Amino acid sequence: MIEREIFEIVLWGFLASGVVIFVSLLFITAPYGRHLRPHWGPTLPARFGWVLMEIPSPALMVALFIVGDRHGNLPAVVLLCLWLLHYLNRTFVFPFRLSPASKPMPLAIAAFGFVFNLFNGYLNGRYLFAFGPILPDDWLTSPNFIAGALIFAVGFAINQHSDALLRRLRGPGESGYRIPRGGLYRWVSSPNYLGELVEWLGFALASASPAAWVFFAWTACNLVPRALAHHRWYRKTFPDYPPERRAILPGLL
Ligand SMILES: NC(=O)c1ccc[n+]([C@@H]2O[C@H](COP(=O)([O-])OP(=O)(O)OC[C@H]3O[C@@H](n4cnc5c(N)ncnc54)[C@H](OP(=O)(O)O)[C@@H]3O)[C@@H](O)[C@H]2O)c1
Repeated sequence: MIEREIFEIVLWGFLASGVVIFVSLLFITAPYGRHLRPHWGPTLPARFGWVLMEIPSPALMVALFIVGDRHGNLPAVVLLCLWLLHYLNRTFVFPFRLSPASKPMPLAIAAFGFVFNLFNGYLNGRYLFAFGPILPDDWLTSPNFIAGALIFAVGFAINQHSDALLRRLRGPGESGYRIPRGGLYRWVSSPNYLGELVEWLGFALASASPAAWVFFAWTACNLVPRALAHHRWYRKTFPDYPPERRAILPGLL
């Protein structure tokens, strides 16, 4: 079997695994952060866990660009830059902004995230830099790309701003929780997850890549149940939690 055929099978299998994860996460909340539970085995310091979990994404994307055949193709380079904008931050900046008092991360979660990022990085990098059609330079001025890149930028800004508001809730050495306020917290409990979803929707539009659409679907399968779990937790923990606030989609969910 040639790699292209294996790629198709992995892509569909990856999408199917996202649906399985979605259903599982509606019943079992991933045990990290406020949902950490003791019986999930050994743990790692949170910073190390995040770096380990995320590193396949930027590393594989760069490696697949290098071994691919799109070095002189401007749309491929721009899409690589968008990917790296997100993943260099998530892998090398975000973890070191976490408080040293952050809860440890179960090794099982870091291992799961590592495997997810291996598959996701492979699928996206291989499609963009080898198997997908070579996008012409004027793709960058097409409505698809412009709308996708703008949506990506808005999602990135929402994600960054929302994570920054959470960081400000804790003083040095604190590890407790407060009701977040300001920004999109006015409307939803997890605007950082909403921003992440918007980002990958934009990337899927900008790249017209089936692998990016599968990544967007997987992000929703992972983050929507977690946002619902956070929302239930906030309501249970804070009797004065703003009643009009939704979990992840303003006014809807
Ligand atoms: N693409 C994906 O599928 C995916 C998956 C997971 C995460 N992410 C992204 O990774 C980032 C972090 O995710 P996460 O699941 O760790 O987000 P999170 O549960 O919102 O927590 C983010 C950080 O803020 C702290 N925090 C959260 N709520 C707080 C509150 N009410 N008061 C004080 N501190 C609070 C958390 O501390 P604790 O750790 O102590 O709770 C953690 O350090 C987000 O930007 C998210 O979008 C992406």
